[in-house]
Amino acid sequence: MPRLTLFVRSERHVIDYEPGQSLRDLLDATDFRVRSACHGLGACGLCRVRLLDGTVGAPTAAELLQIEATDRAAGVRLACQIHPTGDIAVALLDPAPPSEWRTPPPGLVAATLPVTNCDRSRPPGIVNPLGLAVDLGTSHLTLAFHELASGRRLGLRFGRNPQGHHGADVVTRLVAAGEPATARQLAGEVRMAIGTAIADAAQREGFDASRIGRVVIVGNTAMLALLANRNHQRLLQPSMWSAPLDCAPTDTAEWTSDWSIAPVAEVEVIPPLSGFVGSDLLAGLVASDLLAGPAPALFIDFGTNSEIALWTGTALWVTAAAGGPAFETGPGRCGMPAETGAVYRVVFDAAEQPIARILGNDEARGLCGSGLVDLVAGLRRQGVLTPVGRFADGRSAYEFVVGKHTLALDWRDVDALQRAKGAIGAGISVLCTQAGLALRTLRRVVAAGLFGRYLDVENARQIGLLPDVPAEHIELAGNSALTGAVALLLSESARAMLARARATASCVNLAKMANFDTAFLEHLYLRPMSSS
Ligand code: FES
Repeated sequence: MPRLTLFVRSERHVIDYEPGQSLRDLLDATDFRVRSACHGLGACGLCRVRLLDGTVGAPTAAELLQIEATDRAAGVRLACQIHPTGDIAVALLDPAPPSEWRTPPPGLVAATLPVTNCDRSRPPGIVNPLGLAVDLGTSHLTLAFHELASGRRLGLRFGRNPQGHHGADVVTRLVAAGEPATARQLAGEVRMAIGTAIADAAQREGFDASRIGRVVIVGNTAMLALLANRNHQRLLQPSMWSAPLDCAPTDTAEWTSDWSIAPVAEVEVIPPLSGFVGSDLLAGLVASDLLAGPAPALFIDFGTNSEIALWTGTALWVTAAAGGPAFETGPGRCGMPAETGAVYRVVFDAAEQPIARILGNDEARGLCGSGLVDLVAGLRRQGVLTPVGRFADGRSAYEFVVGKHTLALDWRDVDALQRAKGAIGAGISVLCTQAGLALRTLRRVVAAGLFGRYLDVENARQIGLLPDVPAEHIELAGNSALTGAVALLLSESARAMLARARATASCVNLAKMANFDTAFLEHLYLRPMSSS
């Protein structure tokens, strides 16, 4: 992987990067953004850097226009016009102020448009209206801005769900929302977050937020109910879980005003399927076209609440399993979300020493889900961890050095991963039993979620996180919920797919399944899933 050496004020940072995007877009996913106000078109002249080393091609027409000849001679370039492919060194001349919003890590969101035809009618009265798709997750929000006529993407934003300070899991937040004032606060915090993300994107990408004429929001049921501040207390009553839940906004005008978008904008919260299966799963099924591809097919959206779907070719079984914090925040000394500073890949060298790759920074702050899977699988291969998830030599933690920092994987991290994979594995087993299918017959497995494309499929299979089917049958989909929301924003055929999935799905409540507990215990072991 090529390296980007950055000089930011008096600091030097070295970041590995994937070629294929402009330096501006690449930096947008890191802690070191440049200023920008034109969606990288070369029109605002704000994204200046000085090229110190490396080859990036001749200045573009925009750079000839925006940069004085003397500055060009001194190496000044526009970050949005440079598409690096090899090792380069640059100095940021005018770094952007820090923001809580970033472009998502590469690979988290599909780069291509999920539909071929943007045929939804456009909201009247807005010239060249824009659309916004939102994936409202328990730990993070991801937003995509598009032109409704062409589908052209104007930007992405990714940041933490501010409700996290009330508790990492949905149950804690639902309990807190039993107090009406706290419920209003929880709803207001997410609405405010969406508003600041819109403002950040509009400013950096150079569009007028008042042109946003349609908003589509997907998410898990609890997050949608808390956003709308409606019906969330029903989710604390298991007897109500199977019924549909209304999460539509009661006062759309208040939301459009908060967000400074078109007052006439349509705001659509895609209804969840049930109390435990949200519209994020439905959007993921749309994005992956699960009901039209090879069958049998399994879809897993990994997260704090992991949602699972099994398509037999004629029937669709869906459920949700409590994933816990292992994949998104981590409970131990080193867990963290897939944000800048997260170790997202770990490989072991010939001396069995771990080598880490870090997202968007050279300062490691912790391990995100894919890094955790790599590390646990590697330690299991070395015999450092036993199949039951204990350290073979009785130690309490495995420490390893990444740059200037020492990270420690302790029993809580391993335990959380085991519990998450135990619940997900049991959910898959229960659905297979319902459908009368054996795992080995699966012709397609779609793994979605904050892992993006970083999950190492082989490591995931070795510890039993993914079914033990041929690697070519497994697809990494990243944030399929957002991709599906974009499709629903733009396309009528996507909406037809959504209607079909909704009409076909049968929800399975794992809490009521007699075989769940046995399957959960079976899937706690760090070993490949049984294929029967
Ligand atoms: S000129 Fe590069 S972002 Fe505007």
